[in-house]
Amino acid sequence: MIDTHSHLYVEEFSEDIDAVLERARSAGVSKVFLPNINKDSLVPMLDLCAAHRGFLYPMIGLHPTDVASDYTEVLDYMEAQLQENHPFVAVGEVGLDFYWDKTFSREQQDAFVRQIEWAVMYELPLMVHVREAHKELLHIMDSFLHESLTGVFHCFSGTMEEARQLLAYEGFMLGINGVATFKKSGLPNVLQQIPLERIVLETDSPYLAPVPYRGKRNESAYLALVASKLAELYQIPVETVAARTTKNASDLFKRAN
Ligand code: NI
Repeated sequence: MIDTHSHLYVEEFSEDIDAVLERARSAGVSKVFLPNINKDSLVPMLDLCAAHRGFLYPMIGLHPTDVASDYTEVLDYMEAQLQENHPFVAVGEVGLDFYWDKTFSREQQDAFVRQIEWAVMYELPLMVHVREAHKELLHIMDSFLHESLTGVFHCFSGTMEEARQLLAYEGFMLGINGVATFKKSGLPNVLQQIPLERIVLETDSPYLAPVPYRGKRNESAYLALVASKLAELYQIPVETVAARTTKNASDLFKRAN
């Protein structure tokens, strides 16, 4: 299995990262993709990936909630990193988040457009984060319809109508995580109408731990619980979920093969 979205370089894992990675391997996780957050997270992420080559793979991008008045300088810095002989497997995580703060909504949209342009130029998939900005996201994505964009709409937990709109972008998958295991989640009903061919697994560690660890620190080993939930929903063996979602992720993140 591949954990396509896990922030394993953050402080929450500084004490026991080796044990965390060991548990992930034991749980059947063969690769983990690490989305970047901001300028400060780049070096810790790259160091961790360098220490675990062939298992951990970095992305580059500025998270929408970290877009602030200095965003153009930060993006210039990141683009320079991309121009070098880089190890990045995707541009991420990028997107729009108007839930926490709308102060920089215009800047978020500008940063998103610029980072989509990187994905086009470097032929990398996008790791997209969207919250309370579905319409604005579609508007921006539509202006790139003529490009062969690929990527993941990470942490999908929307309605069937939203799923339909997102899956209209043919090169994209929905990233499914522990939210699917939450008791009051409407996601299971939606998932049953979405083909497994359009799904990749993720944890979003250290956030959104699946049941029975909800509220605790999440880690990549818990990907197995997300896979089990999907097996239950689709009424297929968990091995089929693992194999198919691994293929989906491998097809998308070509630089990690
Ligand atoms: Ni994330």
